[in-house]
Amino acid sequence: MASPVPGDSDCLHPGLAEPRTKEDWFAYVFYDPPPRPVLPPYDSYVTMDEAEQRRLNRSRNRYHSALVLAWTPAVQHFETEITELLAANEMAPPGARLGLLIDGPPTVGKSTLVKMIGRKFEQELREDFPERFSPDRLGCYVPVVYISLTDQVTPKQISIAIARYLNVPTSGTKDTIDDRVLTALTASGTQLIIFDDLHFLDCSLKEGRASNDHIKFLANHAPCTIIGTGVDLEESPLLSEGGPTGPVKRTSRVKAPTSGPRTQTAGRFSRQELSAFALDSEERILQWVGVIHSLEKALALYQHKDESLTRQHWRYLHERTDGSIAGLHALIRRSAVRAVQQGAEAITREIMDSIVLSYAHERAYAKVVDLQSRASVKGGSKQIRKRPAADGSA
Ligand SMILES: Nc1ncnc2c1ncn2[C@@H]1O[C@H](COP(=O)(O)OP(=O)(O)OP(=O)(O)O)[C@@H](O)[C@H]1O
Ligand SMILES: [Mg+2]
Repeated sequence: MASPVPGDSDCLHPGLAEPRTKEDWFAYVFYDPPPRPVLPPYDSYVTMDEAEQRRLNRSRNRYHSALVLAWTPAVQHFETEITELLAANEMAPPGARLGLLIDGPPTVGKSTLVKMIGRKFEQELREDFPERFSPDRLGCYVPVVYISLTDQVTPKQISIAIARYLNVPTSGTKDTIDDRVLTALTASGTQLIIFDDLHFLDCSLKEGRASNDHIKFLANHAPCTIIGTGVDLEESPLLSEGGPTGPVKRTSRVKAPTSGPRTQTAGRFSRQELSAFALDSEERILQWVGVIHSLEKALALYQHKDESLTRQHWRYLHERTDGSIAGLHALIRRSAVRAVQQGAEAITREIMDSIVLSYAHERAYAKVVDLQSRASVKGGSKQIRKRPAADGSA
């Protein structure tokens, strides 16, 4: 079995594809990312024949493409919250068991976070109760159900997705499938159900109510803790009957509570926000720098100056990525691959400048560059840079 906490406890990597069945999830739980390649001394590397060098670099690319996942303060916070909820709900009578909704803008790491936490929860169960996972009970005990919802999902589709995950027949009416799903969840000892992308619940008024009732039904009848993630959940029919009648708009604004009447699910779920990293206090700067550090120290490059990203480029990295963990992870991964490819063997400001990130991140960065250019013109400086200068201090 994969060790729940490999060598470096900051870093876990739950896998590659979205799990759709319990077998996919088990593969996820056991998944080990490509190991860090052992680098021969640089002198030997440069004298290697072409094929040998290519093989080593291929394994470095694979390793960098997986890069480590950071056990960020947000991941730690939600791990504590979810672990506590699971403990408080474990033997609670049926009824209004409390669940948690994690609400945040796109690409702040919601899906990754819930999978990291679900994976660790199951790994610890596997350590503590090996008998539940014995070979003769293979696939019988399914402590975690992870469902990634698809666009405009209806209550019946949610039940079908759980049925498919648990390997029970998906034919018949909604009531028949619901019945099978509840029986299977109880028989499988499921403790944690994760619904990822809950904003995909059909938000038309009628279906919205039905979806909401369905989640309430599951929360009442399934002996599980339900965790949901999504964008703009505050405006979804889960929490407010006064929500919009069309698909929910994706924005990163933090909104005032909506005025519509509260739903029954609103009485069963707490809602907490997950946002991008901000640099508005010393504590938050240290959190951002800590994440950069955990990614930087995992690099397998010959000439990379230790802690140069952490100490010199942390502000630049924030500007480039708008404080998004997805942008940061992508920028460091891409830069590492390019550093190997070009033979620079170090992630430098020049390499990072040459990477084109997602449209959203590039747009946000263009605004920063624009503001900085205006400020430097106002301040009398004639020099207008294409990219803002690296910070230079930690
Ligand atoms: N804890 C982490 N450590 C390192 N990288 C991370 C972490 N969390 C997320 N990422 C990076 O960010 C990418 C996007 O994360 P994720 O898909 O979890 O975001 P999301 O909030 O679910 O986005 P969306 O709202 O679009 O579904 C991941 O593929 C990964 O590269
Ligand atoms: Mg997601």
